[in-house]
Amino acid sequence: MRIGIIGAGQMARALGNGWAAAGHEIRYGKRGETRETVEFGDVTLLAVPVSALTEVLGQGSFDGKTVIDCTNAFEPDSGSMVLAEDAVAERIANEAPGARVVKAFNLCAAEVWEASERVFEGRRLAVPLCGDDAEALAQVEELVHDLKAEPVRAGGLNRARYLEAMSAFVVGMWFAGADARAVLPPLEAAFAVED
Ligand SMILES: NC(=O)c1ccc[n+]([C@@H]2O[C@H](COP(=O)([O-])OP(=O)(O)OC[C@H]3O[C@@H](n4cnc5c(N)ncnc54)[C@H](OP(=O)(O)O)[C@@H]3O)[C@@H](O)[C@H]2O)c1
Repeated sequence: MRIGIIGAGQMARALGNGWAAAGHEIRYGKRGETRETVEFGDVTLLAVPVSALTEVLGQGSFDGKTVIDCTNAFEPDSGSMVLAEDAVAERIANEAPGARVVKAFNLCAAEVWEASERVFEGRRLAVPLCGDDAEALAQVEELVHDLKAEPVRAGGLNRARYLEAMSAFVVGMWFAGADARAVLPPLEAAFAVED
């Protein structure tokens, strides 16, 4: 696949290097290179701060493109674990007409993607995906597999806001020194069935 990455920071490099190692063609779009980068890609990854999205989305045509949104509307490094807005992926879909938006990769730190393995306690890392377009979801599933992780379809784009909130909540726990993995039982013990 040809993947255009908007942004050239930590997430751009972490995911881009992993996909390049899996044989994909990557183009990084620094400031001022958005239009060419979007044109290049079958898939576009938005790896910029949420505050830059409106500007970036206005710089290219995303019509028909698969757009991966890995952004988070909070800034853990500045101590803010509260979302500045509550539905970024839906906003992207509104501001980029025709884009086939998939929310993915917003939960884990870039370092997780830079590491050589993604199996923890004997279990492969799962990546939740929210989106409405079947073809785009299938492309992103392939890209998750290429990073040695396991995709999990987690509903339509209208559920991406929960994935965004989950990230703020979980990262808040991690930064407070608590293991977010410990608060949920495994599926077999979850009693997640109708009574
Ligand atoms: N880092 C993580 O562990 C992590 C994990 C999950 C999700 N995320 C999310 O991923 C996104 C990127 O995070 P990051 O850590 O990769 O950030 P980063 O290292 O600070 O990189 C941000 C990139 O966006 C570019 N950029 C900023 N404003 C721009 C604009 N107006 N137009 C074009 N490019 C612009 C920056 O360019 P300049 O260098 O020129 O400023 C830089 O290349 C954020 O939304 C973040 O919440 C990050």
